Amino acid sequence: MERVNGGGTQVKALSEHVYDYIWTRIQRGEWREHEKIPSIRLLASELNVHRLTVFKAYQRLKEDKKVYVKDKSGYYVHPGGLLPFDDLDSPIVSSYVQKSHLSEIHRVPATYQFSYALIDPNLLPNRYFSEYVKEIFDLYPKVLSTYSTVQGDEELRHVLARHFAHQHHFHVGADDILITSGSQQAIDLLARLLIQPMDAVLIERPTYSAAIDIFRQQGAKLLPVDIHPNGYDLEQVESYMIQHKPRLFYLNPTFHNPTGYTIPAKQRKQLVELAERHRCFLLEDDTFHDIYFDREPPLPLFSYSTEGYVVYIRSFSKYVAPGLRIAAVCLRPALMKHLFTLKALSDNGSPLLNQKIFLHYFSSARLQQHLEKLRIALNVRKSIMEEELSLTDWTWSSPAGGLNLWVKLPPSVPMDELLAKSIEKSISFVPGSICDPLKEKKAWMRLSYSYINEKQLREGVRQLIQLSRELNHAHTHF
Ligand SMILES: Cc1ncc(COP(=O)(O)O)c(C=O)c1O
Repeated sequence: MERVNGGGTQVKALSEHVYDYIWTRIQRGEWREHEKIPSIRLLASELNVHRLTVFKAYQRLKEDKKVYVKDKSGYYVHPGGLLPFDDLDSPIVSSYVQKSHLSEIHRVPATYQFSYALIDPNLLPNRYFSEYVKEIFDLYPKVLSTYSTVQGDEELRHVLARHFAHQHHFHVGADDILITSGSQQAIDLLARLLIQPMDAVLIERPTYSAAIDIFRQQGAKLLPVDIHPNGYDLEQVESYMIQHKPRLFYLNPTFHNPTGYTIPAKQRKQLVELAERHRCFLLEDDTFHDIYFDREPPLPLFSYSTEGYVVYIRSFSKYVAPGLRIAAVCLRPALMKHLFTLKALSDNGSPLLNQKIFLHYFSSARLQQHLEKLRIALNVRKSIMEEELSLTDWTWSSPAGGLNLWVKLPPSVPMDELLAKSIEKSISFVPGSICDPLKEKKAWMRLSYSYINEKQLREGVRQLIQLSRELNHAHTHF
């Protein structure tokens, strides 16, 4: 039941918070099926609430068949309560893959590194930065003796506001921008700001796997929306919005990770209209916007936003310097003040030195020169990978930008075994299941062409193909 406070806004009854608290813990597997949950007395004293409040919550959990009662013994977890996606006890096909999240894959050292969606450090402007740092200290002698403001360096925010107006035709003031330590932090802060346990969240399928982990960590109920080369099924999106009233849709509509797809301009506009109609936030993660090969991508969704339901997250990690950890979030004032508070709680502002280094590079003519060369180098690497893969029956849709190929293998190649064998041969890639909120997509893999040089790339892809052939052969002759 909801209560109404003096200000007229609806607040949750305390027993509902207790309900959510226990339900989230059950879903996260803290207690197994048929295991006893804390007694009413114990939980009331732990949470410092009245026993009746806990009793009410437990009664509702019972009604909803999330727990059951054993006479004179207490409350027990009802079978079937675990999040279906979080079943870590499912049979382990390969001891490695089942536990893998992206960071685990990245921890494995590999000569043929196809799992990093990162640009080869040799293609980034390292020399320029090292020469430049001295100048930054001359310009801002006290840069290390002070904090940045929580919202981020004002000079940088002004430059970004001008950049967005010029490049994307959206107009935000410096006050509408918050600098975060990478877009990863932005997604995390926004998830904490907008999501409560069991809130419905729309998420692309497949998607950036760390985002799945962040929303799940927040206790969200994930509703996967398939992404196709030409966008989403908007009827499905709308029916989810009507049925589940999701708080937000996390999307990466431009050179999407992992597929490389780009949502067409027409659909962007329609999607924003849908979101506004159904009051669902769109978290637009625009990490790869500038990494295109021939043509600039369509304008961001944020450019179509009129009512403030689009939150724009723009990372500059990929093509400037991942180590600086600079990203910007654009959002409307009502949300900004809350995001500001969360950012303050998290780290009191991103390091000022990093922001100043970034600012001076970003404002210089060198950035454009660097981007032009980078686009050519990445396109060459993509072509090499595609050339080698064209000798197989694997399929993919050639992306017009971004860092990855999303490749489908024939069912005769067992992905888990291929990954295990590849790792033995110092080759790494991201298995599709990690990018899938449903943990399926087992026939797919993400191959990044951006991290290793042309020669290694060719060798590595050849070896990977050879391994898959050996596995295929072993299986067909069993
Ligand atoms: C779609 C997407 N969002 C966010 C990130 C995180 O980037 P950052 O370095 O800005 O935290 C990545 C990194 O691969 C990504 O692919």
